[in-house]
Amino acid sequence: MSENSPVDAMRRAIDTAREGALAKIMAAQDSASLRDLGIELSRKTSGLVALKGEMGKLSSTADKRAVGQYLNNATTEIAAALAARTTEFADQELLRRVENERIDLSELLTTRRRGHSHIVTQATQRLEDVFVGLGFQVAEGPEVETDFYNFEALNMPRSHPSRSEFDTMFLEFGEPGSTLLRTHMSPVQIRVMKTWKPPIYAIMPGRAFRRDTPDATHMPVFHQIEGLVVDRGITFAHLAGTIEAFTKAFFDSEFTSRLRPSYFPFTEPSAEFDIRTPDGDWIELGGCGMVHPNVLISGGIDPEEFSGFAFGFGIDRMAKERHKVDDIREMYTNDLRFLRQF
Ligand code: PHE
Repeated sequence: MSENSPVDAMRRAIDTAREGALAKIMAAQDSASLRDLGIELSRKTSGLVALKGEMGKLSSTADKRAVGQYLNNATTEIAAALAARTTEFADQELLRRVENERIDLSELLTTRRRGHSHIVTQATQRLEDVFVGLGFQVAEGPEVETDFYNFEALNMPRSHPSRSEFDTMFLEFGEPGSTLLRTHMSPVQIRVMKTWKPPIYAIMPGRAFRRDTPDATHMPVFHQIEGLVVDRGITFAHLAGTIEAFTKAFFDSEFTSRLRPSYFPFTEPSAEFDIRTPDGDWIELGGCGMVHPNVLISGGIDPEEFSGFAFGFGIDRMAKERHKVDDIREMYTNDLRFLRQF
């Protein structure tokens, strides 16, 4: 075959197109321009693709096979170069991102800074201290509860309209709807009544769960503290007095509290309680009321002999107020730069 045979001419054209494409691939500066280049190279009018169209001009099958093979090799080579360069850019970009978002932990090692409890843990411990000072004992209960403890025993039989206010997360365990993540701390009231004998002066801090979409003031996992008193001759005045004593002890003697009529299925009468800051602002804190006789009965206590009150409020919100955190979600991203401030 002479130098100027159609096969040689095609081969030279393929070489030129291949080298041009490879040079462009090596010259690309980032993954975006590489992506554009990939599209450009696959266009019908671009070098190798166009040459494929010209194969028809070759006369013999042997020539077609030889040039076809040559063309295929060149195409494969270009695809491999594109892929390699793409990976290279992806690696570089990842490295750059890691570098930008890096938290310098070496400072922690060299200054031997001591860690501290999370602000919600700090708030819980202070709450416990204040209530223990007022004569309460701390009680605990399970986070996975049954329908009975979370609802039924708290005077919310199935189909009670109040149930829909608790966006409950159910577990696939046992009968459908029978097992759930507790939606509040009140089920622990029942457990305490069943195991302790009156007089009961208990507080119950812990995690509760509701199907809330996280936003600046809500998290699907949050913390509450609940109080329960059951004794002879307990009245609403004891409830109001306890809330007031707690407010002054926890915040400051310049704070006061107020109760507003409300409704809870497990207390009767029920109230919301607010606290007033020295500046005169009212902050809503939680719910409370006299323990409903049906709830005492669920706990195995005779409502003719004993009476009681209960209250409950959110701990995360208190920590948020106290530290002036704008967005409650910040408290749970575990970013040391945020947590170290407190
Ligand atoms: N369990 C109630 C809630 O989560 C709060 C509450 C507790 C109200 C005790 C009254 C008595 O909304």
